[in-house]
Amino acid sequence: MAKDYDAVIIGAGPGGYAAGIKCARNGLKTAVIERDKPGGTCLNYGCIPSKALLGSAEFIIKARHANLMGLDVSFGEPNWGRIQSRKDAIVKSFTSGVEGLLRSNGAELIIDDAEVKENGSVRLKNAGREISCEHIILASGSEPKGIPSIPFDGKKVISSKEALNLKEIPKSMVIIGGGVIGCEMGCLYASMGCKTTIIEALPRLLPREDDWAGRLLEKEFRKINLKALTDVKVSSAETSGDLCRLHLSSGEVLESEKVLVAVGRRPVISEETAKALSLELSVGEVVIDEKMQTSAKGVYALGDLAGKTYLAHGAYLEAEILADILAGKGGQIKDYHLVPRAVYSFPEAAGVGLTEKEAREKGIDYSVTKSGFLANGRSLAHNQTAGEVRIIKDKADGRIVGVSMVGESATEMISTARLIIGTNEKAGEVSFPHPTVSEVLKEAWMGAYGESIHLPPQK
Ligand code: NAI
Repeated sequence: MAKDYDAVIIGAGPGGYAAGIKCARNGLKTAVIERDKPGGTCLNYGCIPSKALLGSAEFIIKARHANLMGLDVSFGEPNWGRIQSRKDAIVKSFTSGVEGLLRSNGAELIIDDAEVKENGSVRLKNAGREISCEHIILASGSEPKGIPSIPFDGKKVISSKEALNLKEIPKSMVIIGGGVIGCEMGCLYASMGCKTTIIEALPRLLPREDDWAGRLLEKEFRKINLKALTDVKVSSAETSGDLCRLHLSSGEVLESEKVLVAVGRRPVISEETAKALSLELSVGEVVIDEKMQTSAKGVYALGDLAGKTYLAHGAYLEAEILADILAGKGGQIKDYHLVPRAVYSFPEAAGVGLTEKEAREKGIDYSVTKSGFLANGRSLAHNQTAGEVRIIKDKADGRIVGVSMVGESATEMISTARLIIGTNEKAGEVSFPHPTVSEVLKEAWMGAYGESIHLPPQK
C-alpha cells in the first residue's frame, strides 16, 4: 500500500523545519509535525529572542561610552517593556516566516503531538489518527537541565526560557553555570542594571573553549559590572522567601531576586517513541551514525535530540545533509569540529576547529599565533579593543586546525575562520579590506606562516 508520506519529521525547530524544506525541495512528500510553535527553541525561546534583547543591551553599553566618542549625551533608563515588545515582534516575524517557508516549498505543517508507533507509523495524538511514511526524522529538541536541589519554579528559580520573558528587570540575579547561556544572559542583565553574578563550578567561564578565552571574558565582564565566581558550587539553597539565598562552597552566601539555572540542556523524546523503537540512547541523547541513522531502521535523528552540537546551525547542517541522503543523493557528516561556536557576550567569543586542548589530546604538534584587537585600526575607531584571535596550526603540514577568538565581531568573523580550517593557503595572498575588524584574523593567520606585516616576528 502507498505510504501517506515519504518523510515525516517530528519537531519544527531549526533541524526539523530545515529538513522539511529540503526534503520537500528534493521531491519527497513531507510532513513536519509540531506540538508548540514552529521554530522550536531557537526562534521562540532561545537564539532569536536572546539576540534581540542583547541587541538592546549592546546599545546601552555603547551609549555609556558616548562621552569617550566625543558625544555630549545623557543616557536614561532602559524601557524594559519596549525592549520586550521589540523582541516579541522579531520572534513573531520569524515564526510566521517558518510556516510560510514550509508551505511555499510544499511541506505540510501539522500542529499536533506526535508519537511513533513503530517504524513507518506515526500517531497524531490530538487528531487521533495515524500516518504512514517511508522515513521518520526525530527532531524533538532539548529542554533546560535542572539542579535537583534547586528545582525550577518558573518564578524565582528560572531557566533561560523564563529569563527571556521577565516582566521587569530584576534588581539582582544569580546565574548558576558560566557556559554559553550564563555568559550571554549575564551580559544582558548586567547591562540592564541588574546586580548579576555568575557561579561556575569549573575553574573558568566557557569551559568548552581554551582557558585564555574564559579568563579574558571574566576580566572584561567586570567592566560591565558582571561578576563571575569560578571554581565554586552551590552547597545549599533557600528559595522560599522573597529573596533566594544560595550558600556557596566558598562559604559565601548570595541573595538574589532570581536564580537562573543554566547548567546545560537535555534531549526531549517521548518515552513511548523511545520504547516503541527500542532506540539506543546515550545519557538521554539518541545515538546516531554519520548518516544520522538511529538504531531503528528508517528512523533518523538530528539536532539537540542527538546531542552532537546543541547548536541551531549544527542542526541546520545535519538537516541539509540528511535530506540529501533520503533523496538518494548521498552525503554524511564529516567532522562536528567544523561547526563554529559563537557566544554573543560582551565581548563576543567564538571558535571553530580544534581548541588547543583538543589538538594536544590528539597528539598534534601545533603552533599558536595571536593577534590583538588593540592593534587594529577599526577596533580603535570603535573603541572596542579588548580581545584577541588565536590560530592553531599543525606544524607537520602547515594546515590550520583551529581558530579561537574573543572580541568585537567574533561571532561574524568565525564564518571566515571556518573557511581557512584545513587549508595551508598563503594568507598573504588573500586580500581583506582595510581598515576592518577582520584584519585581526588576517594578521593572526599570516602570523601562523611568519608573514604578518604588523605583528612582531614570532618565535
Ligand atoms: P553549557 O553546557 O554551555 O554550560 C553549562 C555550564 O554550567 C558549564 O560551564 C558547567 O561547568 C556549569 N555547571 C554545571 N553544573 C553546575 C553547577 N551545579 N554549578 C555551577 N556550574 C555548573 O550549557 P548552557 O549554557 O546551559 O547552554 C545550553 C546549550 O545551549 C549549550 O549546549 C549551548 O551551546 C546552547 N546554546 C548556544 C548558544 C549559542 O550558540 N550562542 C546560546 C545559548 C545556548
